[in-house]
Amino acid sequence: MTATITSISHYLPPDIYPNSYFEKYLDTSDEWIVARTGISERRFIKDGATSDMIVPAAKKCLEKRGLKPKDIDCIIVASVTPDHMFPSTACVVQNKLGAENAWGYDISAACSGFLFALVTAAKLVESGAAKHLLLCGADKMSSIVNFEDRAQAVLFGDGAGVCLIEKSDDPEMGILDSILHIDGSGGPYLNQVAGGSYRPASIETVNNKEHYIYQDGQAVFKAAVVGMADVSLEIMQKNNLTADDIAWLVPHQANLRIITATANRMGLDKEKVMININKYGNTTAGTIPICMSEWLNVGKIHKGDRLVLSSFGAGFTWGSVLLRWNMNE
Ligand code: COA
Repeated sequence: MTATITSISHYLPPDIYPNSYFEKYLDTSDEWIVARTGISERRFIKDGATSDMIVPAAKKCLEKRGLKPKDIDCIIVASVTPDHMFPSTACVVQNKLGAENAWGYDISAACSGFLFALVTAAKLVESGAAKHLLLCGADKMSSIVNFEDRAQAVLFGDGAGVCLIEKSDDPEMGILDSILHIDGSGGPYLNQVAGGSYRPASIETVNNKEHYIYQDGQAVFKAAVVGMADVSLEIMQKNNLTADDIAWLVPHQANLRIITATANRMGLDKEKVMININKYGNTTAGTIPICMSEWLNVGKIHKGDRLVLSSFGAGFTWGSVLLRWNMNE
């Protein structure tokens, strides 16, 4: 028995911030940002929290599947920008949707959050513990980005992707395999130092800007290029797949150069790689479901297509999921 995605939708805030927005007050340029990251613009939500991006995407997702909020029996939210440290954003979403029969919880795995949550969701559905599981990957990165630091301000965006995970009617389809990793020795290179129990928020932590993202860009870049490329190749080899067998690589969108290195390692043409980093930047847990939702909307994913989903993020966390698309267009 396998679990599968039966509906998917996304939400992106309407307000667009092109690279020229940063040129006005930071020592940066459109040329540098495009050449080093592949990003041209991103979206930031003006009012509202992460749950306010999840809820409209979730409503659309349910509507497409013909389900009501009360049909949902479990909600998982992957995010590093939850509405609050507690209660979980899953609780907030449950209440806003009126999903009165659901339980749920949040998962924190940074840019790998959606993949880790997808694998967990699939296991819950396969075991019969959940039937109609609402899986949300969403981040309001603008709430933790230091907009005075040119090395991070330009990289991130806000957005949400939501899908339904249900039992697959065909055991050869759906979420077929996964390889996931964590390595906590990578923690010092990408983190949010303060605000947790290690360093509770104080005037000092705010003055030191420790409530923002800290990133050693080069160290993360080097680890991401190797980690994402290796694990993507490994899942292909483990399943005896060649590049011809794969319809789409769905990579986490952190840097176009990391995506290209991964595709090259897999021997995939760029026509088989979902890329929207140019429009949205890095929306952390949102990138992978937003890609799949966009590509489905324009009829570019077909029933039976093999997709390799791959990510790398803070932790370090990284992994790949192999899935075979089991939705009619
Ligand atoms: N505009 C202009 N110059 C910038 C800049 C910007 N927005 N950001 C950084 N620079 C400068 C640096 O200050 C540095 O200047 P210096 O040589 O005078 O010190 C120079 O550009 C090179 O910086 P470096 O960090 O070596 O650049 P890079 O090629 O590694 O690109 C990142 C920087 C952040 C784009 C890149 O390292 C990256 O993408 N890292 C991974 C990020 C990531 O994936 N994070 C999320 C986890 S999934």
